[in-house]
Amino acid sequence: MDKRTFLKNAGLAGLGGMLSIDGLAELFNSVSSVSSSQLAGDEDFWASIRKGYKLKPDFINLENGYYNFLPEQILEKFIGHVREINLQGSYYMRTVQFENKKSMAAKLAAVAGCSPDQLIITRNTTESLDMIIGGLDWKPGDEAVMAEQDYPAMLDMFKQVSKRYGVINKVLSVPNHPQTDEEIVNLYSSAITDRTKLLMVCHMINITGQILPVRKICDMAHKRGVQVMVDGAHSFAHFRFAIPDLDCDYFGSSLHKWLSVPLGAGILYVRKEKIGSVWPLIAEGERKPDDISRLNHIGTHPVHTDLAIADAIDFYNTIGAERKEARLRFLQNYWTSKVRDLPNVLLNTPVDPARSCGIANVGIKGMKPSDMGDLLFEKYKIYTAPIDGAGVHGCRITPNVYTSTAELDVLVKALTELK
Ligand SMILES: Cc1ncc(COP(=O)(O)O)c(C=O)c1O
Repeated sequence: MDKRTFLKNAGLAGLGGMLSIDGLAELFNSVSSVSSSQLAGDEDFWASIRKGYKLKPDFINLENGYYNFLPEQILEKFIGHVREINLQGSYYMRTVQFENKKSMAAKLAAVAGCSPDQLIITRNTTESLDMIIGGLDWKPGDEAVMAEQDYPAMLDMFKQVSKRYGVINKVLSVPNHPQTDEEIVNLYSSAITDRTKLLMVCHMINITGQILPVRKICDMAHKRGVQVMVDGAHSFAHFRFAIPDLDCDYFGSSLHKWLSVPLGAGILYVRKEKIGSVWPLIAEGERKPDDISRLNHIGTHPVHTDLAIADAIDFYNTIGAERKEARLRFLQNYWTSKVRDLPNVLLNTPVDPARSCGIANVGIKGMKPSDMGDLLFEKYKIYTAPIDGAGVHGCRITPNVYTSTAELDVLVKALTELK
């Protein structure tokens, strides 16, 4: 059945609104012969995905970067898990809680392309990465490398480690428009000394959406005996990669971002040989040194969120990683290509597709980002995230797959008019 017939039949069958996950799977089957890049710009098609999202009518949400709120298909399943666990109470907690969490971690490992014995579910990127920063055996005079564009919570944790253990933090600045990968690799390389123990690098810088050449940075750092921790808060389930291909030592991400898991779920990947040398954030009972569960004690927590991970993965797999990436790329290119050459506009995200995907940052010459954010919201009803620091002055624009080109046209109009 082709897409048009499918949509027509779905409408006739009373499914004209939101499609179930099975309905979505059928819809995607109906377009299996269409390439991801062709499908990415088919607004008619994505309108049927959009129907799964309950959107606030008062504004256009171009700030999906903090939290990729759930489509109804995942939300309904999540509410079901809340009800079920409330029904089972302690019985659930004492019987299958840990078994279920382990099986969710295994599903996540499949998405991440790593073995399940190297990945745990945490509450968020902050917990994952701060566990590593705070959990290494630091000695006075040891050094760590990071960028001013890194996420403040991690920079703060490095500051704490510096005060506590006498670690020296080397903070570099990533240019918004690098010309080559080597430029970035050399920047990180020049901050390394014989005392460097850990290098932190963002896979995708949150304030600009710039993707960094992480594999090349890892290769360079490892040659110099330095471990690498990747902040993948914005890369996981956004664009395609397998964590082991990055060859990093540690990788953290938040699942409530691009995977659309309910709030409060993340992952930590630790290379097998490194598991034994990290002090857990919260102590666990006796385990073998290379057993990753030794890093995973958090006490009683919202276990229904864990269960919704499988539903979010089903939703993600139904769309397909390649199609999702293509759609996000299309949306970013759609608006950036229309404003990049405007005289009043400053784009803070590289144009090279290898260096960006769905997120981009745009500023207006001479205008404070907070004023720009206010104007976008008040005059054009567009919600964004203003950024003013670390060499980035503009509003972060983060669409999601449901975002329409009609919404982006409003943004383009606004950017054309703002002076
Ligand atoms: C690059 C980056 N790292 C870490 C985080 C922290 O994520 P969370 O608050 O989910 O721990 C964020 C959040 O936006 C981020 O963008």
